[in-house]
Amino acid sequence: MVVLTDKTKKKLTIQKLDIAPETTTIRSLDWDRDRFDIEFGLQNGTTYNSFLIRGEKIALVDTSHEKFRQLYLDTLKGLINPTDIDYLIISHTEPDHSGLVKDMLQLAPDITVVGSKIAIQFLENLVHQPFERRIVKNGDRLDLGNGHELEFVMAPNLHWPDTIFTYDYKTQILFTCDAFGLHYCTDDTFDEDLSAISPDYKFYYECLMAPNARSVMSALKRMGALGKIDTIATGHGPILRHNVEELTGRYRQWSQSKAKAETTVGIFYVSEYGYSNNLLQAMVGGVAKTDVAVEIVDLREDIDLQELREIVSRCAGIIISTPPTSNEDMQTAISTILGSVNEKQAVGVCESGGGDDEPIDLLLGKFRNLGLKQAFPAIKIKETPTENTYKLCEEAGTDLGQWVTRDKSIKQMKSLGADLDKALGRISGGLYIITAKKGDVKSAMLASWVSQASFKPLGISIAVAKDRAIESLMQVGDKFVLNILEEGNYQGLMKHFLKRFAPGADRFANVKTQSAENGSPILNDALAYVECEVVSRMDTGDHWVVYSNVYAGKVSKPDSLTAIHHRKVGNHY
Ligand code: FEO
Repeated sequence: MVVLTDKTKKKLTIQKLDIAPETTTIRSLDWDRDRFDIEFGLQNGTTYNSFLIRGEKIALVDTSHEKFRQLYLDTLKGLINPTDIDYLIISHTEPDHSGLVKDMLQLAPDITVVGSKIAIQFLENLVHQPFERRIVKNGDRLDLGNGHELEFVMAPNLHWPDTIFTYDYKTQILFTCDAFGLHYCTDDTFDEDLSAISPDYKFYYECLMAPNARSVMSALKRMGALGKIDTIATGHGPILRHNVEELTGRYRQWSQSKAKAETTVGIFYVSEYGYSNNLLQAMVGGVAKTDVAVEIVDLREDIDLQELREIVSRCAGIIISTPPTSNEDMQTAISTILGSVNEKQAVGVCESGGGDDEPIDLLLGKFRNLGLKQAFPAIKIKETPTENTYKLCEEAGTDLGQWVTRDKSIKQMKSLGADLDKALGRISGGLYIITAKKGDVKSAMLASWVSQASFKPLGISIAVAKDRAIESLMQVGDKFVLNILEEGNYQGLMKHFLKRFAPGADRFANVKTQSAENGSPILNDALAYVECEVVSRMDTGDHWVVYSNVYAGKVSKPDSLTAIHHRKVGNHY
């Protein structure tokens, strides 16, 4: 059955299929979803996958997005009487998987909800009604009978702190929710076509998993202690059956290189349901853009204070992200952190949900008194975050990452041989300002590594350093403007956009602009502009080379020339 919802006219379909003995998937196919979080543009829609396991007892693993309410529940009821389901296993409480938990509790009030301690806490906020629960820890088992013995694997931060995997010993299926998934919607239930899914698999990893590379490594290690994994039943995209070894191997390879970065930033936070997790992930993503490993520590979890001391002392930077209130355990954890820091470290603090008399200011003062460098202004989030709030958190994370790697960056600049350095420096480019708007977020960057790259179709390439704020707005499918600066008349704009902006700062304050067709700002004082759409990105180490098609443009001063950027050396811009 296909449903076109009134509001969106988007195509939603449902698929059900037996994938192993007594195991059925219900896949909600969201064909036209084009966005997930701010920077996550989707080219191929997505799916939300749910699973029914029928031993002597019956378990449902995850549900669906609320937009599938009728379709999903009708399909489920076609398979089973909901009151016959004994357990509802919650891998992760984000609404794309847990959007119908409340409905399930209404249909089957006696069902036992199974999840991590944090997931159960989050669910209380989500459903606002009493429910039977079973909190599981790593290695706990649940025997459904008829061979379906389940084992739970803690997989925090993949993609929220609440995440668990579930392994069924009978079918050798590992249910992983977000991990190993991809946003890719087709009627193919499985991963037969590896080359078709590979680009989206990588992009999904880069957006959601790469910033949490150390957590990925921990989860892979725990997976290794299970039996053979025949199938990975993901929460998004095709179920992995034909390429399990290859695709888990890619996670290992990609994460190994990121996790072994010599510099580490620790993010110490208190998990809360909803946006605080997304704020955390924005911050983690911002730090990870600087090629720094991130260690994420949930202060709400039972934490070993000696381990906490060790983590703090090996970090070059510390971020504390908490709600304004805290219990005794948290105070002890914070005191332990304060007792373990040193003056070579950088610190940043974030508080969500507080009032005006912020305890976080006191905390920041204590870190500064201990000699730590404050990497970004204290972030105080008093209202529901907007896209700009998430961008602010990402940029704050990047600022801290850049600060803790500044010595390494300077050293790398000096490491070229003198002759090569001077020869490379003779490569010149023009001077440009890239401007972009995505949702409500705007950004800009001075660029000189720009070149026309094709005639048919018309295309350009731009090299963008991975830690640039605008990088998130230049994903495949995103639109932007390339403003071309004028010879003899570029100093003002160059000086303005070369400034170091505070996280979340408006790059366009006091700059004359008009809006391009694609919504990005055009700089009135530029010589010319072209409107572009990103087609592909190539990873070149510390930069992305972004190839884009050009579809509109205009010259405002036909007799002027483009400003040229001459360099003496090739080891920096
Ligand atoms: Fe697919 Fe993090 O939810």
